[in-house]
Amino acid sequence: NCMCSKADAAIVIQQWQDVSSPDAAAQTKLSCGQAVFAELFNMAPGAKALFTRVNVDNIHSPEFNGHVMRVMGGLDVLVNYLENPPVMESMLAHLAGQHAVRDGVTKSGFAVMAKVLMGSMPQVVEGFNPDAWKNCLIPILNGMSAGL
Ligand code: HEM
Repeated sequence: NCMCSKADAAIVIQQWQDVSSPDAAAQTKLSCGQAVFAELFNMAPGAKALFTRVNVDNIHSPEFNGHVMRVMGGLDVLVNYLENPPVMESMLAHLAGQHAVRDGVTKSGFAVMAKVLMGSMPQVVEGFNPDAWKNCLIPILNGMSAGL
């Protein structure tokens, strides 16, 4: 049921492109990413402790900005490869490994992230298609948290 069909993938890629125009890309990624993490910490305050290395106490710091851009950049690449399952799988395996080595990162943290993303994307995407996004985002988040 949670399966990103070709039609779902095409919708999600198109809607993602609509909000990440080259002009606005970096600033949009940064401000949306900060909002996503702020909401994640709002819903799961305990998760904050995972990000001390990247100066989470100041989410506007260069260190945390760097973290936000790594995460959003990762999400950007993943979304753009939704129509290429072999590449998607190898990227997810790599990201799963990068998360598995971080103590305290849990599947439930990724479940919260899914809620945050599904709640925030409709605020920026015109004509947001909840089914397509759910079908494609959930497998991404599941794949990334597979090793946890
Ligand atoms: C680091 C992507 C969700 C915890 C990273 C990195 C990327 C990334 C690309 C940098 C990897 C590295 O340099 O080692 C993503 C994406 C996510 C996501 C695309 C979902 C859309 C989460 C969630 C958690 C989490 C939900 C925790 C509940 C961490 C931690 C780090 C990290 C602790 C290391 C921070 C540091 O540099 O000290 N993530 N992530 N991530 N991620 Fe995620």
